[in-house]
Amino acid sequence: MKYERLLHPITVKKTTFPNRIVFSPVQTNFASADGEATERLIRFYKRIAGNGVGLTIVGATGISAYSRLGDHAFCLCDKGKTGSAAKLFDAIGAAGSIPAVQLNHGGRVMKPALAGGDLVGPSAVASPASKNVPRELSIGEIEDIVGQFAHAAEIAKNAGARMVEFHGTHSFLLNQFMSPAANLRKDRYGGSTQNRARIVMEVLERTRGKVGEDFVLGLRISAEEYVDNGMTVEECADMINMFMEKGLDIVHVSAGGIDTGVRMLEEAGKGTIIRLAGEVKKRVKLPVIAVGGVLRPEQAERAIDEGMADMVAIGRALIADPELVTKSLAGRSGDVVECTACLQCFVPGEKPGIRCPLNQNL
Ligand SMILES: Cc1cc2nc3c(=O)[nH]c(=O)nc-3n(C[C@H](O)[C@H](O)[C@H](O)COP(=O)(O)O)c2cc1C
Repeated sequence: MKYERLLHPITVKKTTFPNRIVFSPVQTNFASADGEATERLIRFYKRIAGNGVGLTIVGATGISAYSRLGDHAFCLCDKGKTGSAAKLFDAIGAAGSIPAVQLNHGGRVMKPALAGGDLVGPSAVASPASKNVPRELSIGEIEDIVGQFAHAAEIAKNAGARMVEFHGTHSFLLNQFMSPAANLRKDRYGGSTQNRARIVMEVLERTRGKVGEDFVLGLRISAEEYVDNGMTVEECADMINMFMEKGLDIVHVSAGGIDTGVRMLEEAGKGTIIRLAGEVKKRVKLPVIAVGGVLRPEQAERAIDEGMADMVAIGRALIADPELVTKSLAGRSGDVVECTACLQCFVPGEKPGIRCPLNQNL
């Protein structure tokens, strides 16, 4: 069989992913202004989920009113309003993919207006990109944020998600805490590797207490930040080994982020981020999802074959052609509309929502 490894199911806890292809989390800004899943958001995910993707991770989703990355970003913070989330996860599941959601707090790299004018972070250190200096979070506020992550995960589970992925990369709050460049705290949340990892350990423990043993907990993490004194592969792996003890089930390796602009996507195109996942995989015992620059399933098959990953995520290529996988499996590779890495999806337009010149049906 051509994609033998890629099509082989994988089981994590009691959840069996029907294949190793993941739709990478993408913040579409297709939700309503108050963070509800809209028909457009549901249609977007359903189409990709129904075309041969084993795991569909809904992109960066707010955990509180002031944590969202966009004014139309999805949010899971209100227990009373889970109806639209249930529709979204049901649609993904009914299409044949495992529904998951990425939970995020933007921290210091948020637009100040979305943070209610109160940018927060581990330390009062400026974001290299925006130059904005956040206010250092108090211990009590950190404990509240830990609770918000766990609460959002509980809402996700109750609405039908089978897994959550905590967003610990791309310069957002959990990444800021783990990063020696952004976190200069002198208390138990800063300094040593263990202290910088503490907030994530607490998020995992608190969440596990709410969602039970079988629910799959994932983390997206930076193996390289492309900033001076940032995370390294070695420290990333050391942290993952600590997180495993606290209930982490699967890890998703990425690099770079808002603080280094399009560098992440440039490195993705060179295959660098997949190779970083391979370096992490050598050092940890958990299943690893790799990502970055995959345009064709053949590349994903190779990454698994070469031992760099257990699952492979695809982002832009599935936005450009949601039928990428089904067309390739049916021997119709020539019909695939191939992503040209034009980066239009990354540039905010006037109207809310991502755009792609190759896909007019977004
Ligand atoms: C428009 C857009 C939105 C994204 N949103 C998220 C997000 O919400 N969470 C995340 O972890 N990564 C996000 N990413 C990064 C992708 O998940 C992925 O890691 C990156 O695009 C590299 O993979 P690719 O080369 O297959 O696109 C986004 C990327 C794009 C282009």
